[in-house]
Amino acid sequence: MSAVIVVHGGAWAIPNGLAKASVDGVKVAACDGFSVLQRGGSALDAVEAAVRGLEDNTVFDAGHGAVLNADGEVELDAIIMDGRTLASGAVSSVKNIANPVSLARAVMEKTAHVMLTSRGANLFAESIGMATVPTDTLVTENEMKEWRKNITFSCHSRAHDTVGAVAVDSAGNVACATSTGGIRNKMVGRVGDSPIIGSGGYADNFIGAVSCTGHGESILKVTLARLILSLVEQGKSLADSSQLSLKYMGDRVLGAGGAIVVSPSGQWAATFTTERMAWAAVDHDGLWYGLEPNERRKEQLSQ
Ligand code: GLY
Repeated sequence: MSAVIVVHGGAWAIPNGLAKASVDGVKVAACDGFSVLQRGGSALDAVEAAVRGLEDNTVFDAGHGAVLNADGEVELDAIIMDGRTLASGAVSSVKNIANPVSLARAVMEKTAHVMLTSRGANLFAESIGMATVPTDTLVTENEMKEWRKNITFSCHSRAHDTVGAVAVDSAGNVACATSTGGIRNKMVGRVGDSPIIGSGGYADNFIGAVSCTGHGESILKVTLARLILSLVEQGKSLADSSQLSLKYMGDRVLGAGGAIVVSPSGQWAATFTTERMAWAAVDHDGLWYGLEPNERRKEQLSQ
């Protein structure tokens, strides 16, 4: 069984000025996640490592560099799911946490619950000794500028949205992780699709793993991650299942987005209906990546 990881850095109209940094960022995250798999780490370890890297990269809307809500604050959502047992953990509306994906994993592994929100999630982080950071350190100058523009013009410009990873390890176990700052100028307390099981992500060893990106309210309405896996269960290919589900979301609720999928046998797909989505994958053949629709480039992996 050969291990595979796929990551995305969010859908939407990534501006030209951020295109290279976005592609470079997903390539690095995919390679980092793949090294975890090569060292014998589980799919769960690999998706957490990849998403932590993306959360630490200020180019993406997650962790450092997350977009701001209407009050100019960071509120972060994340999920992680283990396809072996269907165990999952999620956090929503958390502040002061640099890597919400790791807090989501702690919810999965150290509590009897599936999701903790807001103050409760922060109290839990404190109780397990997870380091907190001053909220301001997660806010970039660029996002502060965007927030000021948004309150002046009341617009919700979309450059990036969400990061995620899916992986299958050498034992055939699949996992997914998704993390986001949500959408610019969102209402305080708004929770999108990302931390919701079956919407922002899903992983089941019997079918595959998915991480989604795009308009959260639309993804929630069609439970996009589970919808994609339902079509896979019916025998459709990963690419067809993703494309058909994204098309359904477009037709039914006028929403756009993207998804990455991996199967327990090591097949994978990266699909989107937005203008761009930065994605990268590493499989036995090398490093694959793209940004534009139908773009699929390949590089040999540096050893
Ligand atoms: N897809 C992320 C969000 O809408 O919050």
